[in-house]
Amino acid sequence: MRKIIIAGNWKMFKTQAESLDFLKELLPKIADDHEEREVVLCTPFTDLGLMSKSLHGTRIRLGAQNIHWEDEGAFTGEISGSMLTEMGVRYVIVGHSERRQYFGETNATVNQRLKAAQRHNLIPILCVGESKAQRDAGETEAIIFEQLAKGLVDIDQNALVIAYEPIWAIGTGETCDAIEANRVIGLIREKLTNKNVTIQYGGSVKPANVDEIMAQPEIDGALVGGASLEAESFARLVKHV
Ligand code: 13P
Repeated sequence: MRKIIIAGNWKMFKTQAESLDFLKELLPKIADDHEEREVVLCTPFTDLGLMSKSLHGTRIRLGAQNIHWEDEGAFTGEISGSMLTEMGVRYVIVGHSERRQYFGETNATVNQRLKAAQRHNLIPILCVGESKAQRDAGETEAIIFEQLAKGLVDIDQNALVIAYEPIWAIGTGETCDAIEANRVIGLIREKLTNKNVTIQYGGSVKPANVDEIMAQPEIDGALVGGASLEAESFARLVKHV
């Protein structure tokens, strides 16, 4: 059985005070709805400690947005697996397009970070996706297959989530057509040895389109930026039809 996972990626949003306000509003809205669905919040590092305590006893799992490949060392600004697990973190986003685009992440460093996550018993959410220029040039499949082939070397597919996030659909309001997202995710699944990996779609998922996206047979969840920042809209995504 493929698990349905609705995950919020808060990116660089929300102070601790703001994260608590959000949680107070969110929890009653999702308390007994679809308990089989996994709900994850990937918060900034600075929110993890407080959120870990506040999420105790709730259905929400804690996620981080990055992890370094070494267990410790002189890597200014980075964070290690044991620092995350000590905070109660269960999931970690790896290879988000914003990391690839602005911080020089490559398929090789993504692979290293995935390995570190699994070494620390964290479930990595590997992000893959093409840019607008790559899509227009007909390179979508080739780019994604390369991200998978290089990213997944020596990775255990039994402890893995993948998110297909077309870059041109992130933060733009321009969602990838649900049928097209389903097609690409089907192609990703064909490349995997474990066909039961949860594969999410990400890119302008919101209350208005979540039902159509989640109705697609290959799509097992959503990785959500903007619409995860408001309790009302995130709750609606969790409660998709
Ligand atoms: P938006 O939902 O804001 O488009 O962001 C998607 C994303 O990047 C999630 O990781």
